[in-house]
Amino acid sequence: MKTRVPPPPPPAHHRPTLVVGASGELGTRIVQQLSAARRPVRALVRRSSRQQHLRLPHVDIVHGDLTDPASLDAACQGAGAVIATATAVAPLNGSRFATVDDAGYAALIAACVKHRCERFVFVSVPQTPFDERIPLFVHKRRTEQRLAESGLPHAVLRFAPFMDAWFALSGLALATRGDAASLKTRPWPFLQRFMGVVGGLVEKRGLLIVPGSGERRHAFISVDDVARCCIAATRHEAALNATLAIGGPEVLSWNEVAAKMAAVLGRPVQVVGTPAAVFALQKMLMRPFSEAAANIMALNWFAAQQLPPEDAAVAARLGVAPGTVDQFLRTQATKPA
Ligand SMILES: NC(=O)c1ccc[n+]([C@@H]2O[C@H](COP(=O)([O-])OP(=O)(O)OC[C@H]3O[C@@H](n4cnc5c(N)ncnc54)[C@H](OP(=O)(O)O)[C@@H]3O)[C@@H](O)[C@H]2O)c1
Repeated sequence: MKTRVPPPPPPAHHRPTLVVGASGELGTRIVQQLSAARRPVRALVRRSSRQQHLRLPHVDIVHGDLTDPASLDAACQGAGAVIATATAVAPLNGSRFATVDDAGYAALIAACVKHRCERFVFVSVPQTPFDERIPLFVHKRRTEQRLAESGLPHAVLRFAPFMDAWFALSGLALATRGDAASLKTRPWPFLQRFMGVVGGLVEKRGLLIVPGSGERRHAFISVDDVARCCIAATRHEAALNATLAIGGPEVLSWNEVAAKMAAVLGRPVQVVGTPAAVFALQKMLMRPFSEAAANIMALNWFAAQQLPPEDAAVAARLGVAPGTVDQFLRTQATKPA
């Protein structure tokens, strides 16, 4: 009787990149860029996820859930690199930090180890002296720790605030023009109520609502550049088993950002700051009712602090040259409203 010899696995560069969180704002951009580069993609989405816009050349949509280890096992089979962006920050359909950002990532890492995935690129957040106060940051640090202990080739990318998301949540409608999956449109009721008040205030009334004072500085980076860094980190030597804090090319105060928005929109834009203490109080009040809403308040509290900014030079090590706020705004302005 003939013994059947299993075929050898395809070379690593032919294996699809698995994107976990593909229906989200960043995951979508990663899928779009990989598709445009003709690299095979396996886009993991839930059955309930927005996914029509992911039907692109070279993209195989697979259904799975971070709360369902068997689906992760199937998704990782034959995958090359894995880029994980998924989170329960703006939760839909019952997602929670404990089951998604914590246990879900533990199960995903285990599946990647079992199937010897090439590299695990983890999208993380800045390290701060007060990580313990921000639920999301606690879970991100745990996943970073699990990755370090897993023996899996990996890259941890800690990003500065995304221009697209933070500008939109501060009232600039233009920030998400042309975005098929912007965070601000996720149908999470808390977010939708907030956007009902703040959405488009910059264009309508010239008001930019920011956490902390207008003097707070951030190394804002665009989602497109974040996606470029994630893709570069799947192969670049500089990212292998490294933890990289990545920001955009300028460290701008909100007042400076408002001036740039004013120049692009051709109208005055005034910054309205919210003191950090307001977010600390709201976090406390919301915690008994909604962990996710309390986390958003904690994120705003964090953004109101002045911390050392992330470094643009780090993106350059991955071969990415992030664009400026001005370039981002002017590109957005050319897109249909
Ligand atoms: N915004 C910033 O300034 C910033 C800065 C640094 C780092 N980050 C990180 O960037 C990453 C990407 O953010 P984003 O804006 O793309 O987030 P997002 O738009 O909220 O996307 C979240 C994604 O996670 C998926 N997800 C949630 N629960 C899931 C589950 N049980 N199983 C599988 N997938 C699940 C969602 O799928 P559904 O659509 O089905 O819910 C969605 O695809 C996050 O990890 C965030 O922490 C953001």
